[in-house]
Amino acid sequence: MKFGSKDKKPMSEYELIFENQIEFVRDELIRGEIYDEELCNELTNKSVARSAFEKLQSDRKLLPVYPYREELLQAIEKHQVLVVVGETGSGKTTQIPQYLHEAGYTKHGKIGCTQPRRVAAMSVAARASQEMGVKLGHEVGYAIRFEDCTSEKTVIKYMTDGMLLREFLGEPDLSSYSVVIVDEAHERTVCTDVLFGLVKDIARFRPDLKLIISSATLDAVRFSDYFDSAPIFKVPGRSFPVEIHYTKAPEADYLDAAIVTILHIHVTESPGDGDILVFLTGQEEIESAEEILKQRTKSLGTKIAELIICPIYANLPTEQQAKIFEPAPEGARKVVLATNIAETSLTIDGIKHVIDSGFVKIKSYNPRTGMESLLVTPISKASANQRAGRSGRTGPGKCFRLYTLHNYRHDMEDNTVPEIQRTNLANVVLSLKSLGISDVSEFDFMDPPAQECLLQALKLLYALGALNRKGELTKVGRKMAEFPLDPMLSKMIIASDKYKCSEEIISIAAMLSTGSLIFYRPKKKLVHADNARKLFYTGNVGDHVALLNVYRSWKENDYSHQWCYENYVQVKSMKRARDIREQLAGLLERVEIELTSDPGDLEAIQKAITSGYFPNSARLQKNESYKTFKYSQTAHIHPSSGLALKFPKLVVYHELVLTTKEYMRQVTELKPEWLVEIAPHFYRLKDVKDSEAKKKRPSAEGGLDI
Ligand code: CDP
Ligand code: MG
Repeated sequence: MKFGSKDKKPMSEYELIFENQIEFVRDELIRGEIYDEELCNELTNKSVARSAFEKLQSDRKLLPVYPYREELLQAIEKHQVLVVVGETGSGKTTQIPQYLHEAGYTKHGKIGCTQPRRVAAMSVAARASQEMGVKLGHEVGYAIRFEDCTSEKTVIKYMTDGMLLREFLGEPDLSSYSVVIVDEAHERTVCTDVLFGLVKDIARFRPDLKLIISSATLDAVRFSDYFDSAPIFKVPGRSFPVEIHYTKAPEADYLDAAIVTILHIHVTESPGDGDILVFLTGQEEIESAEEILKQRTKSLGTKIAELIICPIYANLPTEQQAKIFEPAPEGARKVVLATNIAETSLTIDGIKHVIDSGFVKIKSYNPRTGMESLLVTPISKASANQRAGRSGRTGPGKCFRLYTLHNYRHDMEDNTVPEIQRTNLANVVLSLKSLGISDVSEFDFMDPPAQECLLQALKLLYALGALNRKGELTKVGRKMAEFPLDPMLSKMIIASDKYKCSEEIISIAAMLSTGSLIFYRPKKKLVHADNARKLFYTGNVGDHVALLNVYRSWKENDYSHQWCYENYVQVKSMKRARDIREQLAGLLERVEIELTSDPGDLEAIQKAITSGYFPNSARLQKNESYKTFKYSQTAHIHPSSGLALKFPKLVVYHELVLTTKEYMRQVTELKPEWLVEIAPHFYRLKDVKDSEAKKKRPSAEGGLDI
């Protein structure tokens, strides 16, 4: 006979809940750094008979960085460049800018703090403004691409690393800043890596500028070495022991395994015993996990405690982001379904259980095929341990790894490769060129990208007319650099001037830049949704014009929500497209391009698209697949495209992504003559038309092989 605590429900009841359970084996235990019972109680102390603001202030004092405030300020005073290292959640991002503000650094300039992710920039700015008791956008603000929430008053500015990079264009010495914090340096995004080189350079001739490189990992020596042996300031962490569990056997479906594990934890541990954080790979996956969890908890009804499901991913609308930080009400448990944004960028309090799928969606670019792949890839050991650590912030935690110990030991790399070594560099090279850096291969990269990739980026920019033969920035290139977009997209916009269709083209560019899905396809109404979508394919020249039609109809219907629901279009994506479009219109004015339009002239639109995207053209093969001109890479039209079953002879695509297959996404039909008219150096009519010539790459002299 077994006796358990009375409030625990007997196991037999749960056996009905789970048809399949996962067997875990407990293996290692990550030992905490400082385990302090008293502190643990203090942190979880719930007696709050104070105002919310007072509570915020006293919470600030509980953060690990607080006892080091004075020491840290002294170190910053003494050294121009400082590397700060501290566990995620120790208060680096939210506190250090405030300390500097309190110490008077904002008297002679702004404090800029960069974040690799948009969501993180917005959320930490919101938090810091609350703590300072000011309105977001006043003293504390944030800037992300296409969204500027700052004002004249702003002295603490959180921003994405890409935004600071753009600020260099207008202010090459960042003279309006007194401190620049390059935060989350360990993430090593392309923009962060480029920033490293730029801030290192300006620090040399601006002795008054303070530079802080902040990172969550212990590999700080590399940062220090790079920044001429800058001192390292370590904020001792406060982490509790974490128990690690591995699955006994490999799991075929980690999404399903994650759901089973969530429910298992939820019913076997009392809700007061901490929230759950689940690492998944992307928005769609998170949305489907949310759906399944909702269904399953609904069918269990009151048999289980309430489970509050909070998704978090890069494109989540601002209104919904706050939800992940709100504590679950008494008797309920929160489960946060996150991408690796929750690995280091965001700290969510109250997490006691981490479920780690072991995967991350990683973008990598292959310069030999010109193909970007967005593949779900195993994480590195460093990531796995970072994820596990999220459960031990406020008390001892548990991490359930949905992979075996063998997988961990043998299939995972130690560290993730920096993005700069696995990305298309056209954008970076254009930015560097417009900053006046003529020899990009000499740029002081911490980990230089392959020469081949740099050369390729140069060739592409030359082909687009952004650089001349000598590799110098042209007038067109200068205009292109004004747009915070991929160079091909910028070129498409610049070319719309010639074809007198800039109104249409910026709508298309905005629709392509929302970063999220435009069409909504609920599983139960697939047929209706797909029929509604077909209506946008009038003229049927391709997906770009369909996007334009969506935007136009929405506008004609006064930007109505109702219209979106009726047409299975995502409201939030449309709103974002509208914001982006407005800004693109502003930028057009800056580069002195007028808004022009001829709604009926589809050919003009197609030609403008081709002007930017001709390097992405592909020709139909006998077996209904396509081959790209540039790399002879086999590709297929993505099934979601309106041209998927039409098989036009020649197409341009917005992107070529390897997922389950090599797919071209957002495809438009074109005529061979246009390629020759638009890019005569690269395409000869004979090559474009003659199917026999397809094996040869179009490499006319003066062409891509400069
Ligand atoms: O940057 P670091 O990881 O060192 O920590 P942080 O982002 O400054 O977060 C410090 C603390 O602020 C977290 O532990 C949270 O308690 C709190 N925080 C919050 O409640 N809401 C946010 N949006 C950001 C931080
Ligand atoms: Mg941080």
